[in-house]
Amino acid sequence: MPLIPMRVMLDHAAENGYGVGAFNVNNMEQIQAIMMAATETNSPVIVQASRGARAFSNDNYLRHLMLATAELNPRIPIAMHQDHGNSPATCFSAIDQGFTSVMMDGSLQEDGKAPSTYEYNVDVTKQVVAKAHALGVSVEAEIGCLGGIEDGHGAGLSDDEVLEHLTDPEEAQRFAEETGCDALAVAIGTSHGAYKFKEKPTGDVLKMDVIENIHSRLPNTHLVMHGSSSVPRELVDIINQYGGELKESYGVPVEAIQQGIKHGVRKINVDTDNRLAVTGAIRKVFSETPGKFDPRDYMKPARIAMAEVVKARMISFGQAGWADKVPIVSLEEMAKRY
Ligand code: G3H
Ligand code: 13P
Ligand code: ZN
Repeated sequence: MPLIPMRVMLDHAAENGYGVGAFNVNNMEQIQAIMMAATETNSPVIVQASRGARAFSNDNYLRHLMLATAELNPRIPIAMHQDHGNSPATCFSAIDQGFTSVMMDGSLQEDGKAPSTYEYNVDVTKQVVAKAHALGVSVEAEIGCLGGIEDGHGAGLSDDEVLEHLTDPEEAQRFAEETGCDALAVAIGTSHGAYKFKEKPTGDVLKMDVIENIHSRLPNTHLVMHGSSSVPRELVDIINQYGGELKESYGVPVEAIQQGIKHGVRKINVDTDNRLAVTGAIRKVFSETPGKFDPRDYMKPARIAMAEVVKARMISFGQAGWADKVPIVSLEEMAKRY
């Protein structure tokens, strides 16, 4: 099956009331882990690569890995998505590389750190929508800024600044109408990485009510939750048990995501939980069997550990069981529909 536009998948998810996890990849084993989970659960798949991932793996490797993935998994609909494109140029180069979906994150300036203006965001998003839609490629945009980061991409906002940069529902409505984006990432108090909340988040820090408000204004826009890793205690414990030094922290409870899915969240970005699973599995092998030096001895358990996390998320988000029911629409057909 060829790679399909993400919009098709999210439309199907909306019609059937489920969410789709979007999992970050940097290498072959992570792609394989996602596909292991998808085949086991019959789930449609969004594979996403950040700018850093594209630089790390090299676009040519990534393109061919994704073509191989589609070839090897003819029954699974797959969308290939650029995560956090920092400029129209980044999104255009992703489209040239065969990505079927791009995120133009104009909530930040091109440095991927400083919050931008509303006008800048509209301008760059519209440029990307014009080119992408002409080719049938889907566009995710972002309005509002995520919280401070320990790693990855985003504005290093303090706890107080996060509250100032939450998505304003009225502005989100205007933005979606002006830009014509297919999916909209909203800021509700989450951040990327393993250190999101100091305690289990309540409604004061994780603003699910903002999602509900935006969904009531934009019932036909697919909402995206970034920074959605749950940072499971058991994964952190494995890392620390085998010599790691991660601090205690709390992620986004899966139940909160499920609540979001009831209110228009269709794409859920998860990277950190998979990083934790992979790192824990590798540390365990290194620690328990220090004589091993064949990469397969640690990459295989790492791949299995990531597949387990992805599988659990696919089941919780409700995408399990839908792979064979998502309509297959080509980019050409999608371009005609816009
Ligand atoms: O945007 C955040 C994702 O976790 C990707 O992180 O930019 O370090 O690849 P990255
Ligand atoms: P996490 O760091 O919570 O996994 O978020 C990933 C993300 O939002 C990628 O865009
Ligand atoms: Zn993100």
